[in-house]
Amino acid sequence: MAAGAWLKPLADARRPAPRHAERMTRFALHRYGSGARLYDMLSLERPVYRVGRARGVDLLGLRHGDRVLDVGSGTGLSLPSLRRAVGERGKLVGVDASAQMLAIARRRIAAQGWTNVDLRCGDAAHLETLLRSGESFDAVLFAYALSVITDWERAWDGAVAALRPGGRVLIVDLALPIGWGRLLSPLARFACFVGGSDPRREPWRRLFECAPDAVHAIARCGHIHLAVGTPVQAPKAAA
Ligand SMILES: C[S@@+](CC[C@H](N)C(=O)[O-])C[C@H]1O[C@@H](n2cnc3c(N)ncnc32)[C@H](O)[C@@H]1O
Repeated sequence: MAAGAWLKPLADARRPAPRHAERMTRFALHRYGSGARLYDMLSLERPVYRVGRARGVDLLGLRHGDRVLDVGSGTGLSLPSLRRAVGERGKLVGVDASAQMLAIARRRIAAQGWTNVDLRCGDAAHLETLLRSGESFDAVLFAYALSVITDWERAWDGAVAALRPGGRVLIVDLALPIGWGRLLSPLARFACFVGGSDPRREPWRRLFECAPDAVHAIARCGHIHLAVGTPVQAPKAAA
């Protein structure tokens, strides 16, 4: 049995029922749709969350010419560092279920004059419908997204399936602070509540299950977790 294959039934059991998933996704979309214009201003990007994104992209070790899939790409806050890393010859694909969040990202792309960034609107749980046939990536990024996406296990599976063999995954996500940072737990809980993020989900554990080389780091007293690794994938069945 392939490593971790026995975990699959467990993962399936954890998946939300389809109707519930749909309702929760609509709820998340409403939240992000109505808040899109204020997201960059109110998301505490500079003082709190940028560090996770910046350190994570560094750890990913991207090279010029790489192709990167940004799942739950939102307003495109990760795009500047990704674009710097992959250069003009690289390719960035951002996927998000909120058209309003993507509209802000489009403005960012237009303002920079980037021509190698493609945004696609849809549910990350159905990535196969958003990616072109045969499209594959050197790296996948989930920045503050897996704790928000309702059927995140499915989004994970779809993204890993779109990785080229040896491709890497970066997860940046949220948990409640530890140590003296616990004093700030009410604020962290509030931030998660506002963003619809489940701080108990710990999606980076999914990477540990399948990436023997996974590295893990925390920032902001454990409120931000980063994990990077190379998922070992079962060989694809011949068509
Ligand atoms: C906390 S924001 C993170 C955005 C961006 N990655 C960042 O770092 O700023 C979460 C994003 O996930 C998106 N999202 C929520 N559910 C989704 C789903 N089912 N499929 C795709 N995107 C989803 C939201 O629209 C939102 O843009």
